[in-house]
Amino acid sequence: MRRKVTKAIFPVAGLGTRFLPATKSIPKEIMTLVDRPLIQYAIDEARAAGIKEFIFVTSRGKGALEDYFDINPVLESALEKAGKTALLDILKTTNMESGAIAYIRQHKALGLGHAVWCARRLIANEPFAVILPDDVIEAETPVLKQMVEAYAETGGAMVAAMEVAREKTSSYGVLDIAEENGRLLKAKGMVEKPKPEDAPSNLAVIGRYILPPQVLRNMPNVRKGAGGEIQLTDAIAAEISHGRPVHGYRFEGRRFDCGSKAGFLQATVAFGLAREDLRDEFSAYLEQLAARRHVAE
Ligand code: G1P
Repeated sequence: MRRKVTKAIFPVAGLGTRFLPATKSIPKEIMTLVDRPLIQYAIDEARAAGIKEFIFVTSRGKGALEDYFDINPVLESALEKAGKTALLDILKTTNMESGAIAYIRQHKALGLGHAVWCARRLIANEPFAVILPDDVIEAETPVLKQMVEAYAETGGAMVAAMEVAREKTSSYGVLDIAEENGRLLKAKGMVEKPKPEDAPSNLAVIGRYILPPQVLRNMPNVRKGAGGEIQLTDAIAAEISHGRPVHGYRFEGRRFDCGSKAGFLQATVAFGLAREDLRDEFSAYLEQLAARRHVAE
């Protein structure tokens, strides 16, 4: 029996400078899509995939994340007294079981690979997931759950994969594919942020990973890579060089790059329209807006 994936690492140490001035005092992961912080989407996806231990790799100024997942007795009792049970239920989805959540500091911004490596002692000798909260994916079956199911068959390392425009390869880890079998893409190589002319394909890695603990042991041998950083992609690629399996998983779902302003706005619209309580009013507004633009043209 393959060991179940019950631990997930959430690298949240980034400064979020693309969202300044907002991120001067709020962690980027607390920024909201409709009324839920980005990090809540990531946690819900992890829970749906069977994750029980949540490991945050943080940095200075991320204290609001710890408060967010703590109970807020004042707020809870105020809602209870006022009989606002629906709100109380929403609030309780943010509470974590005692001991289920851990915070590790990444003292220096040395790259995503280094951030994940900072959690090595908490992972010990188990397979684990990594979720990058900037990548928000709207899907019928949450993407990490899709991957956990596929991983039960393949084992090894698995990364979420999606086709991107050729000219965008330099923003992603990119897979070199040996074989394709439905949604599964067996990789024979992986490169971080290649120029379009050097990219082995246009299949990009999206921020969901299931990794064997060996990937953490590869890390000390990983040299500084793209952008002068220690890259997770390179530690995964080392698995391929050692003859161990790495698969891309072409997931079902729509991904939003919430690390960019345009992506964040698109996600806001998509998640706003997906909400029953907002849909009618919001779509009427968008239609009105589109009609007005049409007239102006
Ligand atoms: C990171 C990874 C990259 C991956 C991307 C997905 O890059 O290093 O391999 O394709 O996330 O969003 P970043 O966006 O942090 O530069």
